[in-house]
Amino acid sequence: MKLAAALCAAALCVTTGLAQADTYKVGTHPTFAPFEFVDEAGTPIGFDLDLIKAIAATQGDTVEVVSMPFDGLIPALLTGQIDAIISGMTITDERKQRVDFSVGYYKSTLSALIRTADAEKFTSVESLRGEKICAQIGTTGSAFAEKVSPGNVVNMNTEPDALMELKNGGCSALINDRPVNLYYVKQAGGNDITELEDNALYTNPDFYGIAVRKGNIELVEKLNAGFDKLSKSGELKTIHEKWFGTAN
Ligand code: ARG
Repeated sequence: MKLAAALCAAALCVTTGLAQADTYKVGTHPTFAPFEFVDEAGTPIGFDLDLIKAIAATQGDTVEVVSMPFDGLIPALLTGQIDAIISGMTITDERKQRVDFSVGYYKSTLSALIRTADAEKFTSVESLRGEKICAQIGTTGSAFAEKVSPGNVVNMNTEPDALMELKNGGCSALINDRPVNLYYVKQAGGNDITELEDNALYTNPDFYGIAVRKGNIELVEKLNAGFDKLSKSGELKTIHEKWFGTAN
């Protein structure tokens, strides 16, 4: 037990003014580079993990990272297996009915990847209507793909699986978050896969938030206060630079 916690247990924390140090269990699905993915040893790393650890550290707290499939994260939160989710999770009205979110910590948008060989055939989102579209199960990209090409969505468990499926011809496009798509294209050297050029897609930004159980105001406030501190101190920029190569 930490000293602060020991003091609190002795009911002295009020008089000493020491807050109790906590360890949060934070769920993530590490197949979403550069936000969360695994290093060679299988340890989850990425922007989101550095961010949540830094947020916790502003209050002397620590984080235990728990990996699980994306569509299992909210159920795990609701059943108390984890205390929070950081997983490039978009704040949506639908999710807000089940969980509470921190302030938006990252502005994102969706994009579509296609095989470079099809660049002349597919020139807009509209041109993907009726085509098979790959997506990651349970994501906003999957929901959008369903609108673009109803009944033709090929849901895969991970972004790498969806990319493999696109490369192998199992679908005509992959719809997922743009920063993740671009990270892949950049890494792959932009040869066989390219981004669909349709600016209409990119004018509709969304925000990632850290999810907690509904009504866990104490944790949301701690997360928001920590995030604010990192924004002001410049640490947020440093973390961004580490994973994206630019300060914002
Ligand atoms: N932003 C999208 C969503 O919230 C995709 C997130 C996928 N994240 C992940 N770690 N696999 O639905």
